[in-house]
Amino acid sequence: HIINSSYLLNHARKFGYAVPAFNIHNLETIQVVLTIAKELESPVILAGTPGTYSYAGVQQIIAIVESMAAENNQQVVVHLDHHHDFDDIHNKIRAGIRSAMIDGSAMPLKENIAITRKVTELCHYYGCSVEAEIGQLVGQEDDLIIDDVADPYTHPEDARLLVEQTNIDSLAVAIGSAHGLYKSTPKLDYERLQKIAKLVDIPLVLHGASGIPDSDVKKCIELGISKVNVATDLKLSFAETLKSFFLEKPGSTDPREYNQLAKAAMADVVRHKIMTCGSAGRI
Ligand code: 13P
Ligand code: ZN
Ligand code: NA
Repeated sequence: HIINSSYLLNHARKFGYAVPAFNIHNLETIQVVLTIAKELESPVILAGTPGTYSYAGVQQIIAIVESMAAENNQQVVVHLDHHHDFDDIHNKIRAGIRSAMIDGSAMPLKENIAITRKVTELCHYYGCSVEAEIGQLVGQEDDLIIDDVADPYTHPEDARLLVEQTNIDSLAVAIGSAHGLYKSTPKLDYERLQKIAKLVDIPLVLHGASGIPDSDVKKCIELGISKVNVATDLKLSFAETLKSFFLEKPGSTDPREYNQLAKAAMADVVRHKIMTCGSAGRI
């Protein structure tokens, strides 16, 4: 029941919607995403950064997902978000992961191509799909912190080159989105996205979707984005609900009580993102 992401993303690309990728951390967040995906009949990707897998355990995440997917009769993608180490990716594939991102975006193009190629060969041997990245997203995603880059945007010609020379299945692009929230509404470079989409014939990925207005996310999907990554908005809804709960009931200790509320708040966000991606009713 754990599948790779190529069929889902190619289907999304063909039919003009996007598959949402939600960053999860534990039992509760996996439960929320899979329950809402089931309710809305949406394909879904569960993503974890290296930090998340060390926190929760690779085998443990896989076991929770597999048992829930079996119960719900779901096909689920468990994805390696922003991974960069060949051996780490290899070990996680051996454990059962079938979708990986090799993030070589901090490297010069030539080195990015080289590591992406090497990882793609490994992944495809196991039937694991591969996402690469070119250009850089500022902001913070767990341990990955990027402050200021002189030219963070994806150059369309570089994107074409990376795709041509690596055999990857999807490509993350930098068009002005950032990890985390924004100080002001981000200005996305739609022209650049269009150019990349014209030059590259694989699904494109939008990182940093938290904080981007729905209408802008929809526009990106129209112009060729087939996967939308959401992390911060989920963490926010969960944590804010917990905070106000404990302000009101400082004496409470029952995890079933406070987690239930936080899960309900996060479920609303997941539902909303699925509707924005247009992925409801696709399975
Ligand atoms: P946000 O935290 O901005 O939603 O970014 C998520 C992301 O890109 C995960 O890879
Ligand atoms: Zn990201
Ligand atoms: Na963001």
